[in-house]
Amino acid sequence: MGSDAASAATATVPALVAVDATWARLPALHALIRDVYATSDAMSEDFEDKFPSPSALAAEIAAVTARPGGLVLAADAEPLPLGYLVIEPRPQARLRHTADLTMGVASTARGRGIGRLLVAEALTRIAAAGIVEIVYLMVRADNLKAQELYRHAGFERVATLRRDTRIDGRYHDGVLMRRFVGGYD
Ligand SMILES: CC(C)(COP(=O)(O)OP(=O)(O)OC[C@H]1O[C@@H](n2cnc3c(N)ncnc32)[C@H](O)[C@@H]1OP(=O)(O)O)[C@@H](O)C(=O)NCCC(=O)NCCS
Repeated sequence: MGSDAASAATATVPALVAVDATWARLPALHALIRDVYATSDAMSEDFEDKFPSPSALAAEIAAVTARPGGLVLAADAEPLPLGYLVIEPRPQARLRHTADLTMGVASTARGRGIGRLLVAEALTRIAAAGIVEIVYLMVRADNLKAQELYRHAGFERVATLRRDTRIDGRYHDGVLMRRFVGGYD
């Protein structure tokens, strides 16, 4: 993103929208996710493997939102969305009250509260829908910023998974976090 685009993004207050596979701004969302992956090694997957094209992203969103309780949120803004959050209910019949959370915020927009807004909005929507009762997420043990965000949003640390991630032959511990939603604790 050029400096003009970056300052335009800085000036924009994002609208938090639930998106589906037909969302007109999927190419822009794809570009945002590319930026998140390119500017962080927090993700466990390779961007080109997971989202080789906007249509691959559309297929992923279609699969997530087809599941009861599935949710994809975007913090929409021009020229690109500033953040996204995915609640992916687990597909196994006896685990469908549980879901995994993944998210990212544009490299130019971090530390401005967008991540906090996205998590709060997701938790509100999950509680209102009454389908997902437990949200899990995995975060690298050295990603203290993300852990603080989740801790402030009510997530608790469940376990540390030693040597959970391997990047170029180096191992990193992972932290499993959990939040009960809607009074199901
Ligand atoms: C982690 C991430 C999603 C956070 O989003 P963000 O919009 O930058 O975070 P926010 O500005 O909403 O900050 C939320 C909280 O995070 C914590 N936080 C933010 N910046 C921080 C920093 N530099 N150091 C420590 N904690 C920090 C604070 O607790 C903050 O709460 P507060 O505003 O009440 O103090 C974002 O930085 C990101 O996309 N990082 C790269 C990808 C990634 O790590 N994804 C998560 C993988 S599990």
